[in-house]
Amino acid sequence: MALLLAIESSCDETAVAIVRGSAGQAAEVLASEVSSQIELHREYGGVVPELASRNHSLRLRGLVEKALADAGTAMREIDAFAATSGPGLASSLLIGSTAAKGMACAANKPFLGINHLEGHLLSPFLDRTSVPPHVALIVSGGHTLLLDVEGPGRYRRLGGTRDDAAGEAFDKVGKMLGLQYPGGPEIEKAARAGNPKAYDFPRSMLHDPHLDFSFSGLKTSVLYTLQRADGNVSISDLSASFQQAVIEILVGKTLRAAKRTGRGIIALSGGVSLNRALRAAFQEACAKSDYELVTAVPDFCTDNAAMIAFAALLRHLAGESSPLDEDIHPNLPLV
Ligand code: KG4
Ligand code: ZN
Repeated sequence: MALLLAIESSCDETAVAIVRGSAGQAAEVLASEVSSQIELHREYGGVVPELASRNHSLRLRGLVEKALADAGTAMREIDAFAATSGPGLASSLLIGSTAAKGMACAANKPFLGINHLEGHLLSPFLDRTSVPPHVALIVSGGHTLLLDVEGPGRYRRLGGTRDDAAGEAFDKVGKMLGLQYPGGPEIEKAARAGNPKAYDFPRSMLHDPHLDFSFSGLKTSVLYTLQRADGNVSISDLSASFQQAVIEILVGKTLRAAKRTGRGIIALSGGVSLNRALRAAFQEACAKSDYELVTAVPDFCTDNAAMIAFAALLRHLAGESSPLDEDIHPNLPLV
């Protein structure tokens, strides 16, 4: 049995989690603290790196203390310390990584630097006893990535976005429509009262044989529609039509990936996978083609430290660790 403490600070969420587990058993999340900075960055319409790193350092200590108290444990009981080492904002990554290394050094325990994307990727399996072979779609604010997963640590890239990430497209379109940051949840709300067929937006690359995505044409098409109508549009119809285009692209490409690889399981992770219309479309498509759909619980879709602790736990149980002088990597690729 191992007890892991992990820190996530790659962007604008400061998070600390404690997870317990052993090989072949489902991990237990004993504490998962997330302190969101969304309110701080909202007035700027996006994340301001200097504000983010300053607030990570202000909040981290309190969150570590709260996580230990919630888990009913003490620092000396922790078997290994982990932090996100990339990808993300350099000044933000540095805060969490340095703190985790400091704790590991003081406690004379191992440190593990974890790829943020591996955290998202594994999050749907946090409550399972194993990570089976599957096709994974990571859809977040910074990434849209399709992977063939053989098991923990064995990943093959099938495709990804060539321009904007799906969440980034949601956020940019939200901004164009005058909605609050982040745009994803606001567009989902507005779309509920709208007609998804009101506007015929492009489904870029959907029918191309490769498994890459492109969302910038879709975003530009929304902008032109707004400009042509001189702002005189139904926000609900526009949101619903935009959302529908994103959903069809994501579902279409992911099912093609599953068919091509022969995997029977599809796993969805990342902030955009919270979108209920997207989940419903995946559920319907998977049921039709007899695929099992695995999603992360809502709290573990957006950035959190439980997913980082879980990824670290699997690596720790496999005997891995990272050197204490390992650097952060703002552009760290997963494969
Ligand atoms: O995974 P995440 O917290 O951060 C990154 O690693 O990027 O994802 C945040 C992204 C944002 O772009 C946000 O707009 C989007 O997830 N998002 C949504 C929804 N909730 C969050 N997009 C569509 N519908 C939602 N309900
Ligand atoms: Zn993320």
